[in-house]
Amino acid sequence: MPIVPLTIEGDELKGVWPEVKETTEGGKTVQVAETEIGGVTYSSQWFQYCGVQTYPGVRPGEEQDNFLRASSGDTYGWMSDIDAGNKLTVDMFDDYEEWGNGIGKSGLGKPAMATWRSEGVSPQSTMPVQVLRSTKIEELAEENEFMAAATEDGFMAWLDKCTHFCCVPGFKAYEGSAKFGGEDRVYCQCHQSVYSPFSPVEKSFVALPRPEE
Ligand code: FES
Repeated sequence: MPIVPLTIEGDELKGVWPEVKETTEGGKTVQVAETEIGGVTYSSQWFQYCGVQTYPGVRPGEEQDNFLRASSGDTYGWMSDIDAGNKLTVDMFDDYEEWGNGIGKSGLGKPAMATWRSEGVSPQSTMPVQVLRSTKIEELAEENEFMAAATEDGFMAWLDKCTHFCCVPGFKAYEGSAKFGGEDRVYCQCHQSVYSPFSPVEKSFVALPRPEE
């Protein structure tokens, strides 16, 4: 799943949206959102799969404040006293070095379910994002240029749409994950995909047929 580069503004977590530029293609002027982050070209195209390509939030010029906001739902008990829509803040993750919820090992990191670039859009077009703060992400940032640029203080985020068939996976979110070796990783309960949040890879895939030339 594609990483959402993030930053911390004050005490609030904010996704980074690429710089919006205009370009002319085939005689037409179009907007693109593209920028270089840590030696990698980061583009709004990263999020164009699973129908997200039609969401207002991925339009290059869509005006959004980019803060990561708590989503509704009861995936994580610790989020039950945070109102959906509230901005996620650093202090909510203060216990990230020891946090656990009985699924797999404690101390691997503290996750949250969030939304991004979805203020004022219909619920069907909400972009689900998972946020994770972990000492392992701090370690990755020390050895990897892109991770150093795309994460901060051990926080990482990604668009939480399974690349298999678009369900919403989770880190330590599902009791049954242990049966499939997913209790300490990101597990999708639809068809048991397991993702490792601590070994990101550079990969591109085409989820839709290309238009005819
Ligand atoms: S949709 Fe996630 S495993 Fe199939």
